Amino acid sequence: MACPYPATIIPHASWLPKKKASNISPAATAHGAVQQPVHHNSATGASLPVSICNTLDKAIDRFIDPPERRPLVDPQRVLSGNFEPREAGVPVFPNFIAGFQGVAGLARMAVMFARALACQISMNMGFGLANTSILFFAKHFYALCESDLPYTMCINPATGEVTTLSRCDFDGRRMIGMTVHPKKDPVTGELFAFRYSLFQPFLTYIWFDKAGNKADDVPIFSLQQPSMLHDFAITEHYAIFPESQLVMCPMNMALRGGSLIGLDSAMVQRIGVLPRYAKDESEMRWFKVLGFNMLHTANAWEEANGEEIILVSTNNLSVKHMLGNMELMQVQVDMIHINLRTGTVLCTALSPESLEFGVIHQGYVGRYNRYGYFGVSAPLPRFSGIRKLDFAMVGADDCTVARRDFGPGCFVGKPFFVPSNDNGDGNEDNGYVVCYTHKEDTGESQFVVMDAMSPELEIVAAVQLPARVPYGFHGRFIMQAELLSQQK
Ligand SMILES: [Fe+2]
Repeated sequence: MACPYPATIIPHASWLPKKKASNISPAATAHGAVQQPVHHNSATGASLPVSICNTLDKAIDRFIDPPERRPLVDPQRVLSGNFEPREAGVPVFPNFIAGFQGVAGLARMAVMFARALACQISMNMGFGLANTSILFFAKHFYALCESDLPYTMCINPATGEVTTLSRCDFDGRRMIGMTVHPKKDPVTGELFAFRYSLFQPFLTYIWFDKAGNKADDVPIFSLQQPSMLHDFAITEHYAIFPESQLVMCPMNMALRGGSLIGLDSAMVQRIGVLPRYAKDESEMRWFKVLGFNMLHTANAWEEANGEEIILVSTNNLSVKHMLGNMELMQVQVDMIHINLRTGTVLCTALSPESLEFGVIHQGYVGRYNRYGYFGVSAPLPRFSGIRKLDFAMVGADDCTVARRDFGPGCFVGKPFFVPSNDNGDGNEDNGYVVCYTHKEDTGESQFVVMDAMSPELEIVAAVQLPARVPYGFHGRFIMQAELLSQQK
């Protein structure tokens, strides 16, 4: 059976652990082709300040942070040569997680300040590689990186060619960055998001109406310290934020040669609940959830007439391995019950396996849903298989109701759920789970389509790819209707 929708899946960078050797192609596209920079200044005719900064960046890459010591993904190039800002052919922004480590991180930061002084970049408009996520909202595609403004882009429906258009600040509405995991309400069409910062307010809540008009920022000052908030959740009436032990600590990099992102094991983890249309944080409530270091949410919803919030997300049980030994990470899918009246919080594991990158039917975001599809850590950032969990089985030892393993030496990236039809037929899982596979021994890569309703996640279609898509990258399935309705 063929997949009913023409597909464009665009991968994006996620966590970037240190690793001695990299087998990741830094510039693969959804189509397996190698992307070409399209909007950058050419090397010809570069100004003296640009040439100096580029030379310094190249020296850092060669002498301080050579390839054999680099993280899993090259911080200067990461995934997409298409989206990232460049000067004279050289990327101007390091990856803000992997690029800012130790002496090399300090040196790169100094070059960035030099670029700002030379007006090559504007530091108060965020910085990043626009390589982490793709959003379709209000008839525009956006390439997202959580440290930067969104970049508008367009995709040629006929050829799949991706073109970067511009950096977008939503008409100057004080945008300096946005999460790579915004949530689009499937009922109202609104978009909810946030950004985090080294400086107060450490968290800023953002939302847009369905036409793309941005509401005023809602600054949140009640975080304990600058936390690294990668993902969040919405329900019909609330926005839900995690406060984990992963914190930003520039002094760790400056004084100890460590990472910009660090661990504060003494910090009490919390979940913050904010009314969705709050004007300020006066009604925000924080709930302590010991041992809960959230990575990605699957979904959240309300029960008991809005008295209870249910959150399904992954929990990093070994957060200390997050930044240096990702292969040792254990990640658990948890269901969190938060009773807003009593203040009690209950946490229940849904599977004994280490699972991450959960996805659901996007038509159920913020509303009750039963099924989530997760990658099986092999270990991270590779997945050896896919598991379908039934959230209604909470309390059972294992809520897994369907599974597929891809066999020795074959690994996959993040799965995505594609419904059989846009309007739905009442069966939440009537659709397909899609992902990329890669056989490490033969180098063969495929785009795989699985029947989401079958217990073995039966493969119903597989498309051979001319090149591989890197592990550790998220994806998004773009509908033909979205492709055809996009505006430049
Ligand atoms: Fe992510």
